[in-house]
Amino acid sequence: TAPKPLAGQRVLVTAGGTVERIDPVRYITNDSSGKMGFAIAEAARDRGAEVTLVCGRTETTAPNGIRVVKAESAAEMHEAVMERLAATDIVFKAAAVADYRPLHRATQKMKKTTDQLSLELVRNPDILQAIGEWKETNGGKPFVVGFAAETTDVEKHALDKLNRKKCDLIVANNVAEAGAGFGSETNIVSVYGQGGLVEHVPQMTKRAVAERLLDIVQADVKGTVKR
Ligand code: PMT
Repeated sequence: TAPKPLAGQRVLVTAGGTVERIDPVRYITNDSSGKMGFAIAEAARDRGAEVTLVCGRTETTAPNGIRVVKAESAAEMHEAVMERLAATDIVFKAAAVADYRPLHRATQKMKKTTDQLSLELVRNPDILQAIGEWKETNGGKPFVVGFAAETTDVEKHALDKLNRKKCDLIVANNVAEAGAGFGSETNIVSVYGQGGLVEHVPQMTKRAVAERLLDIVQADVKGTVKR
């Protein structure tokens, strides 16, 4: 039988939403279910890749044949991803990472003592940007596929993220559209590279979207796609 197309490739996928703790029982998170990232991980596994899935909070059970690393907060995800970059060929950054976390994390459950309460937040590390910067000083590897969850001016924001975060490709989903984005079984995405739009992928299951993304990445890694 012919060798599988991603045999020998080490693929790292992030999935799910990060959890930023306020106190031992409360936290800030988002609606990411992990389905998009899990679908990419499974599709890459079935194409012969050695897959590591770094996941935050997910509603999905861990797939077989994939190394799963739990990372609750953005800071933990940042560490888990960075320490694996040297042993990674392709990264898919499908996780929904919180941009901010509480400045202080209470060690005991917070009591209600006042009518108003302000929660002070601080910026989290931008993992995708850190990968882009690491790559520049490490021989241009790994190949980086970022995601962008947008509600307006999808193309403009996606291209801005592609350039700022130094990705090879960016997968934009308009999360305001029915059947796309957070929690749904399907997704609708547009894939952009340095040269602009690479492909618009109409509504299909997240697994089918994952297969399209892998086709694009395989062609791109071989240098047969203009971007
Ligand atoms: O998990 P599902 O329910 O299946 O939903 C899938 C999805 C909608 C979550 C997924 O397709 C998706 O779009 N993931 C990215 C969501 C997101 O955080 O988008 P963003 O535009 O805020 O961030 C852009 C990129 O930077 C993302 O690749 C994100 O992982 C990365 N990022 C963002 C902030 C941060 N501090 N660190 C990061 O690495």
